[in-house]
Amino acid sequence: MMMWRGILHEYRDFLPVTERTPQLSLQEGNTPLIPLQRLSKQLGIELYVKVEGANPTGSFKDRGMVMAVAKAKEEGSHTIICASTGNTSAAAAAYAARAGLRCIVVIPHGKIAMGKLAQAVMYGAEIFAIEGNFDEALKMVRRLSEMAPITLVNSVNPYRIEGQKTAAFEICDQLGKAPDILSIPVGNAGNITAYWKGFKEYHVKKQTGLPEMRGFEAEGAAAIVRNRVIEQPETVATAIRIGNPASWERAVQAAEESKGKIDEVSDAEIIEAYKLLARKEGIFAEPASCASIAGVIKQRKRNEIQEGSTVVAVLTGNGLKDPTIAMEVADIQPLVLPNDEKAVFEHIQGVVHQ
Ligand code: F0G
Repeated sequence: MMMWRGILHEYRDFLPVTERTPQLSLQEGNTPLIPLQRLSKQLGIELYVKVEGANPTGSFKDRGMVMAVAKAKEEGSHTIICASTGNTSAAAAAYAARAGLRCIVVIPHGKIAMGKLAQAVMYGAEIFAIEGNFDEALKMVRRLSEMAPITLVNSVNPYRIEGQKTAAFEICDQLGKAPDILSIPVGNAGNITAYWKGFKEYHVKKQTGLPEMRGFEAEGAAAIVRNRVIEQPETVATAIRIGNPASWERAVQAAEESKGKIDEVSDAEIIEAYKLLARKEGIFAEPASCASIAGVIKQRKRNEIQEGSTVVAVLTGNGLKDPTIAMEVADIQPLVLPNDEKAVFEHIQGVVHQ
C-alpha cells in the first residue's frame, strides 16, 4: 500500500500549494468513514460517521492547520496566534512545532477540556487563559494580529477553510458520491463553510453530487438559529461554546444553497448521543462532535430526514480529548477490589451470570 502523505500532497491540485509551499505534514486526513450498523437500523437510514478524531492531534483542525501553518511559513512568518476552545490550539501548537514556528494561544480560562490543554502544553505553545469566553478571545487575537507581525490561524484565515474542505472530498471518494445529507456540529461555523466549499468544488470536477447541509449548534450557544449574538454562551460541549460565530453568514449561505438547515440540539440530546455512539457502535467522540448525531436523531424523529436517506455525520473530535466529561456522565465506575483472586473471581462471575 502506498503511504498517505498528508493533505497538502494528496490534494495539491485543489489547494493553494505552490513550489514554495513547505511540505508540511503529520499525515493528516484519510480518516475513516464508518457505517453505523445498529443506529442505521434503529433510525431507518444509512448512517455513516466521518471520524475526524483519527487525525494526528485528534480533530478536524489538522486539515486546516497544516495548510495555514505551511502558508504562514511560506510567507515568512515566525509566529502564529489563535483563540481556541481547545482543538484549534492543539493543532496550531503541533503544526507550529513541526514547522519550527512559535505559537501563541488564547483560551477561555476553565472552559477547555483537559486533553486539549495537555496537548498545547506538550507541543510547547505559549498559553494565555483569559477570564472571558472564546468570542472575546477571538476579538483580541484578531486585533493583535493586525498590529503585530503575527499570523492569525483561526478559521477567518482562508487557508484554514481550504485545508478543511478536503474532508468533503474524502467522503465523496469513500461513498462513491456525496451523501444525501451531511450533518455537522457548528461552533464558529468555519467547518460547515469548508465542507460546503469542498462538496461544490468536487462536484464541479467529478460530478459527485451535493448533499443537504444540516448544521447543529448547541442550544445554549445557538446564535445562528436564534438570529442573535449570545453574549454568555453555555453548553457541556465546550468546543462549540461560541455565541458569535465568525463565519455566520457563510454557514447560513451553505444551509440555504444546499436546501439544508442550521438547527440546534440540547445538552441532554448531545450527551445521549455521546453515550449511544460509544456503547452501541464502539466509537468515542467528544461531546461537541456528537451534536451531529444528536441532530440526525432529532430530525429523523421529526421526519425532516426521510427514511432510507444516506447520511454522513461528522465526528469532529476524539473522545479522549475530554476525559472529565466522560467520567462525569458515565454510570459505570471501576469497582475497587482487594488484591485477592477469590474476591475478584466472585465479582466477575457475578457479572458473567447476570
Ligand atoms: N467540533 C469540535 C470538536 C470543535 O473543536 C469545533 C470548533 C467544532 C466542532 C465547530 O467547528 O468552529 O468550524 O464551526 N472548535 C474551535 C476551536 C472553535 O477553537 O477548537 P467550527
